[in-house]
Amino acid sequence: MQRDIDRILIPSRQIAERVGELAAELADKYAPAGAERSCELTIVAILSGSLIFLADLIRRLPMRMRIALVTVSSYPAASTKSRGARLLEQITVDVAGRDVLIVDDILDTGGTLRAVRAELARRQPRSIRTCVLLRKPGKAPPDVPADFVGFDIDNYFVVGYGLDFDGLYRNLPDIAVLRPELYTSGPGGDRA
Ligand code: IMP
Ligand code: MG
Repeated sequence: MQRDIDRILIPSRQIAERVGELAAELADKYAPAGAERSCELTIVAILSGSLIFLADLIRRLPMRMRIALVTVSSYPAASTKSRGARLLEQITVDVAGRDVLIVDDILDTGGTLRAVRAELARRQPRSIRTCVLLRKPGKAPPDVPADFVGFDIDNYFVVGYGLDFDGLYRNLPDIAVLRPELYTSGPGGDRA
């Protein structure tokens, strides 16, 4: 697996540090000093990319929370180009009147967050905010704001710490840039 990596973009130690800072920002927003018990957050996490980020983040948050998982499909198999986001099943958690935080691995074209946000907004939550580990600011559209962002990165296709290419590399502890020849040539997908 390491042989497929061009270089490490964000090492695991730096990720852990930033996740701690994000948790502190979230705690400040939702449960300022002493108010931990008055806050009940509903986290809607987007699978599968957010799974490691989610596990690390929630263990550093002090407030009470419920967690719902949604699966969104946007990349056909071995592709690095989104073809429009689609929720693979209905969101069943009750969000009416609740503070909802959508958690995703990366904000790229914004299609995924836009779709999930629209679906949740219809159910009249008290608030909806979004938290992403990574954002590609060159591509992120202005109508899909990320309220909490771990790192802004350039327009690389990255893997590791939950992010995949064709289902692989999610278990890398660092966030890494894949060797471009792995996704710019070969059969299948547009590999743009
Ligand atoms: P968007 O819908 O274009 O914003 O893309 C968001 C989804 O695409 C994320 O939840 C990721 O699963 C996936 N994605 C976008 N960029 C990357 C990347 O660089 N590496 C791996 N997955 C990515
Ligand atoms: Mg994803």
